[in-house]
Amino acid sequence: MSASYRVFATRALPGAGFAELRQDPAFDLDVWPVDFPPAREELLQHVAGMDGLLCLITDTIDEAVLDAAGAQLKVVSQMAVGVDNVDVAACAARGIPVGNTPGVLTETTADMAWALILASARRVVEAAEYVKDGMWQTWTPTQMAGVDVFGSTLGIVGFGAIGQAIARRAQGFGMRVLCWNRTPRPDESAVVGAEQRAFDEVLSQSDFVCVSIALTNDTRNLINARAFELMKPSAILINTARGPIVDESALVRALQDGVIGGAGLDVTAVEPLAMDSPLLEMDNVVVLPHIGSASTATRGKMADMAVANLRAGLAGRPLPNSVGD
Ligand code: GLV
Repeated sequence: MSASYRVFATRALPGAGFAELRQDPAFDLDVWPVDFPPAREELLQHVAGMDGLLCLITDTIDEAVLDAAGAQLKVVSQMAVGVDNVDVAACAARGIPVGNTPGVLTETTADMAWALILASARRVVEAAEYVKDGMWQTWTPTQMAGVDVFGSTLGIVGFGAIGQAIARRAQGFGMRVLCWNRTPRPDESAVVGAEQRAFDEVLSQSDFVCVSIALTNDTRNLINARAFELMKPSAILINTARGPIVDESALVRALQDGVIGGAGLDVTAVEPLAMDSPLLEMDNVVVLPHIGSASTATRGKMADMAVANLRAGLAGRPLPNSVGD
């Protein structure tokens, strides 16, 4: 039987769904063979003539890519919840649905926000390096003393599913939780015991400010120099959403000048973060390589969802999960 669908996958995905796709004679699958994303020219070449595109957050899917693909392209399926790298409006204008993978990564990503809260507050990474570097000579009353998480105030910027999951975990830490969302979410905040506040108030009253909002033109640089000025000098910024929501130069200055107390970042403005970034020289900053949803189980579920979206789009069915639903 000859293949009916040509698909370019910009990387091999984990999970059973992708393994099945590889075996399915109905698919002619071109899988980018290495873990680095295809360069722009390579993406433009490989997408040509494809019916479906399976992509990741590292791939820029814009008009040029859609043009290069051709009019037969039926679906763009991304293995991620965030799709700021995809020109969704351009896809919509061509009638191409864009699939994403919400829900399955909510709890895993909230766990990571908490890993960063605890690591930043209690200097976990710094202390582990101290031991590895042979610096641990004795016990002293103030050695590696950090700040308390228990009983402090958590501010959540963006109260969608992940923000709510972060808030739920705060109950066990006896925290006051403040939240802000562009569209107020009174029911959801009541369920997790969070208080809805104005944006400025969340910033000024919180000990930890967690960014948990989608990157759009409206949220780019939302956390800027003005926002840092509003925050407590001891406040710790946590970002598990997207790097460009934070003005990174302003963040560096705020940390250098003691305007805020520290940061735990799973995401940076440009990824990977340049090795000469001042952020990497600061003891009060933890930077992780965008691994918020990276548990083996969750990444498998995300991949399966992306494959299910792809299959539906190719078959002309509504996607189980598409952007704008
Ligand atoms: C990862 O960052 C995602 O958006 O799923």
